[in-house]
Amino acid sequence: MKKIILLAIAMLFTANAYADEKKMAEGKSLFKENCFVCHNADLDPPQAPPMFGVQKHYKRATADRDAFIEKVTTFAMDPTEDKAILKMAVDHLGVMPNPGVEEADVRKIAAYIHDETFAKPCGHMKAAMKMAKSEGDLKHFNKIKKNFNRMCGNNSSSTARCGSCGTNSVRPSSTLPAPSSAEDGTLKQVMQQLGQDYSDLDRAILLEDFETAEKAAHTIAFHDKPSMGQRMKILASLRLEMSDFKKADEKVHALAVEIEQAAKAKDMPLLIKRQSQMLSACMACHTSYRSRVIDILK
Ligand code: HEC
Ligand code: HEC
Repeated sequence: MKKIILLAIAMLFTANAYADEKKMAEGKSLFKENCFVCHNADLDPPQAPPMFGVQKHYKRATADRDAFIEKVTTFAMDPTEDKAILKMAVDHLGVMPNPGVEEADVRKIAAYIHDETFAKPCGHMKAAMKMAKSEGDLKHFNKIKKNFNRMCGNNSSSTARCGSCGTNSVRPSSTLPAPSSAEDGTLKQVMQQLGQDYSDLDRAILLEDFETAEKAAHTIAFHDKPSMGQRMKILASLRLEMSDFKKADEKVHALAVEIEQAAKAKDMPLLIKRQSQMLSACMACHTSYRSRVIDILK
């Protein structure tokens, strides 16, 4: 008798697991049919945030699976700016258009989004960095880059458990190109390049060649970083002063972005003003750190 009861319970569980799997497969195929055109993490330029991030934000914003499904469904049935919680995605891509899917199907998709293990969106982040760079949006660029390095850098494996889900192609991180630049030169090489870019900018201003000025400023704003080894050496010696050293660098970056915008707007007085402020910022760092850092890197 006992055995029969146990067997019956076991069968019940198997049946449940089977039903769950079937629902998951249905949710996945509905997702691919209705949402994947935009929510494909490999699109370049990006059309929508990858589900990896959507899932993370919605899990953080809800208490349990039911609440998650409810919140995704409420949004996807009638997307509006106040309902959207991914404010940065709305800023960059606009509010999601209504996908026009029946509520019962949206619920199945929402459950699938909750349960799936999505691949890390490394391809998406690279495309988004490219987009931010072309828009000259340094703040956004740095934010994505930080996440990219954390999630997709050499030390983290970008393996995903949903190898067969097909929603994201999973590439081993070692085949990804370095985040934004070579990042393997010495600081001296980086500075020599910066000196060259600075001369280009100066010359472009004298020739009133706004287009070249814009490009030169852009190159300065996104200049290469020295190799990790060089950065670690500087950090080890400067220690607490490292944050001031970084701030000096950030100041130059921020001014370069403003120069790029002034050149785009063909605003010569502003362009000259920002350029001289940037030169002061370059020299301020040289005065405080140049000879010390040369010693550190010897
Ligand atoms: C035409 C392109 C497109 C399609 C199709 C699409 N989305 Fe989106 N989706 C977006 C964009 C763009 C955003 C980012 C802007 C935003 O959050 O509103 C987004 C954001 C989202 C968000 C996060 C909203 C937030 O900010 O809180 C959810 C959830 C979502 N989509 C679910 C879905 C589901 C489910 C489907 C399929 C039924 C779907 N999307 C189909 C473009 C699309
Ligand atoms: C965060 C600090 C910092 C900032 C900001 C900075 N530099 Fe430098 N720079 C250095 C250091 C340190 C060196 C010495 C590197 C070495 O020789 O190893 C240097 C060296 C140089 C050199 C000499 C390279 C050589 O061949 O010896 C040039 C040219 C230069 N910087 C240009 C610039 C320009 C142009 C800017 C602004 C757009 C700038 N730097 C901003 C720290 C900085």
